[in-house]
Amino acid sequence: MALFEKAPAKINLSLDVLSKRDDGYHNVEMIMTTIDLADRIKMYSIESDRIEIYLESRFVPSDERNLAYKAADAFKKKYGIKKGVHIHIEKSIPVSAGLGGGSTDAAAVLRGLNRLWSLNIPLEDLAALGATIGSDVPFCVYGNTAIAKGRGEIIEKLASPPSCWVVLAKPDIGVSTWTIFQRINIDKLSHPNNDALIDALHHKNFFKMCANVGNVLEDITLTIYPEVQRIKDKMAEAGATGVLMSGSGPTVYSLIEQQSKAQRIYNGMRGFCEEVYLVRILG
Ligand code: C5P
Repeated sequence: MALFEKAPAKINLSLDVLSKRDDGYHNVEMIMTTIDLADRIKMYSIESDRIEIYLESRFVPSDERNLAYKAADAFKKKYGIKKGVHIHIEKSIPVSAGLGGGSTDAAAVLRGLNRLWSLNIPLEDLAALGATIGSDVPFCVYGNTAIAKGRGEIIEKLASPPSCWVVLAKPDIGVSTWTIFQRINIDKLSHPNNDALIDALHHKNFFKMCANVGNVLEDITLTIYPEVQRIKDKMAEAGATGVLMSGSGPTVYSLIEQQSKAQRIYNGMRGFCEEVYLVRILG
């Protein structure tokens, strides 16, 4: 019997980098929330001890480089499963966009295999396994709204944001997270105020939330890709609030309270940018 798992995208309400680690990664503090832009994943067991990935995408490989493949492989090895699985990924989340598309697919595979093979493994264990696949996978295992610390593997749940709309605009480029992290000058970062942002979430204060979104990677990506700055300017011109680049980019989002205003900004951005989405925060 086939099983379906939804894999929602995330946006970074904040992304702070605290220090560089000896393992080449950085200690971060990222406040993330899920949005209702999602890949859909169908899974079923197969007799032979193999992992088959099927997806229609020009940009994502369907072999062992795919994070969903890595997740299934890690899961099978960790729990000694000798069965195989077919995984069909219907992609809606843009790739290399800063929206956690690959990570959320991997997380959905971990949750899905847990159900498919009735193993009842706690989410904490799936998140720990997810950390071996990618830094954003542990957050994606839980979803909702949380702060991720350490390399991304320490997850603390947070209150969900006040109800609002999100306009996402992605220029026609893909950004390598590794490249952006390589360029960080740790002494020159202007850090977002995560405490104020957490307080805003706690009190469902939309304006305080918008005033405190922040991403230390934004300036680095903007320098390399000026089209990201142009999207930010265009959104600001249209009166958008809470405008920020997500992850290492290049997707820029705006948080908007009223649906009519969100629709207007969405329409304005559509003429300007390749890929534009109007979605809600799932929180
Ligand atoms: O973990 P993931 O493979 O998604 O990370 C991609 C790249 O981003 C890493 O190779 C690393 O260069 C950088 N990164 C980092 N610190 C983190 C997360 C990612 O330096 N906490």
